[in-house]
Amino acid sequence: MADTLVEENLDKNSLDNPIARILGIETSCDETAAAVVENGREILSSAVASQVDLHAQFGGIFPEVASRQHILAIYPIVDQALKGAHLKLADLDGIAVTRGPGLPGSLVVGINMAKGLAIGSGLPLLGINHLEGHLYSAWLREVGTKLKNPPRFPLLALIVSGGHSELILMKDHLVYERLGGTLDDAAGEAFDKVARLLELAYPGGPAIQAAAVEGNPAAYEFPRAWLDDSYNFSFSGLKTAVLRTVQQLEKQKSPLPKADLAASFQAAVVEVLFHKTILAAEEFGTKDILVAGGVSANKALREKFTSQKKYRVHIPPLSLCTDNAAMIAGAGCFRFAAGQRDDLEMDAAPTWTIAEL
Ligand code: KG4
Ligand code: ZN
Repeated sequence: MADTLVEENLDKNSLDNPIARILGIETSCDETAAAVVENGREILSSAVASQVDLHAQFGGIFPEVASRQHILAIYPIVDQALKGAHLKLADLDGIAVTRGPGLPGSLVVGINMAKGLAIGSGLPLLGINHLEGHLYSAWLREVGTKLKNPPRFPLLALIVSGGHSELILMKDHLVYERLGGTLDDAAGEAFDKVARLLELAYPGGPAIQAAAVEGNPAAYEFPRAWLDDSYNFSFSGLKTAVLRTVQQLEKQKSPLPKADLAASFQAAVVEVLFHKTILAAEEFGTKDILVAGGVSANKALREKFTSQKKYRVHIPPLSLCTDNAAMIAGAGCFRFAAGQRDDLEMDAAPTWTIAEL
């Protein structure tokens, strides 16, 4: 097809302006998602089929159930994304798919779909790191809206999701230095586990946030793991402290003050995430901070970052914080512009870290 965006604009393509129209596919965890993004910025369509209700009955993600659901949902979701963008495969420049990290049995469903589409259409295939996708969600905007202040480099990025808590110095497009990460539970995992302790709904993040609204964040003095001001995180001690408090209250046959417990736990997580991010931004002299991943949907965390004025803070809109495929398509545009092309031998990379990029 001679009129793809790339063929029309070959001489203008750059990482600051990654001209490409990419279909993104995401199946790394419990969301089956597909989206079309133009130039790394404009979301032409985004479809997400969440499995949350299905997994809620188990109180967590069941990998085999997840992969079976992805198989059922993937075709209609890709179809929905293409129809939503009013495009056919021939109108696109490439197919980006999450290669990792994630659940192996879930990743392969998206990868196989992407390979099938690439073979059928002749389009290039691009394997994308899920965490890089979360970062690039900060460049996206809905059709008809403007991204007023795109992130500037170097920037300090905090990725907080169900599987990861990472502090990353992003020196330029696609150039990362990993400063630290969690030594045990990820921030989202801690929210999910503490929610279970408090018998709140799954997923735990939104449930804790809702319960905390009526609570006093200073009611309980839960520990903050500063780890000698390193850029690593640890949330397992905090989780155990909440468990001990709950056990003690149960022994005394006191009703659980869930709102106070939720608010105090949330305050402890937010304080550590905020403090370490600011510390790193100061050390590396960045002007911008980017917060992404499912936990960046948290209202208390967002308010903490936006209430300081020293750094320009970029947090994606709520719809782009939790897993979606627009972020994969968005990152795909940048990878495409950088010349990445993967072959059909590409396999899932369930433990792929950002340090390997
Ligand atoms: O990025 P994501 O959708 O999936 C992974 O890549 O893991 O993140 C999911 C995580 C879950 O642990 C969920 O509890 C958490 O994000 N989360 C929140 C909130 N919304 C989702 N955590 C705190 N507050 C929220 N509002
Ligand atoms: Zn994620």
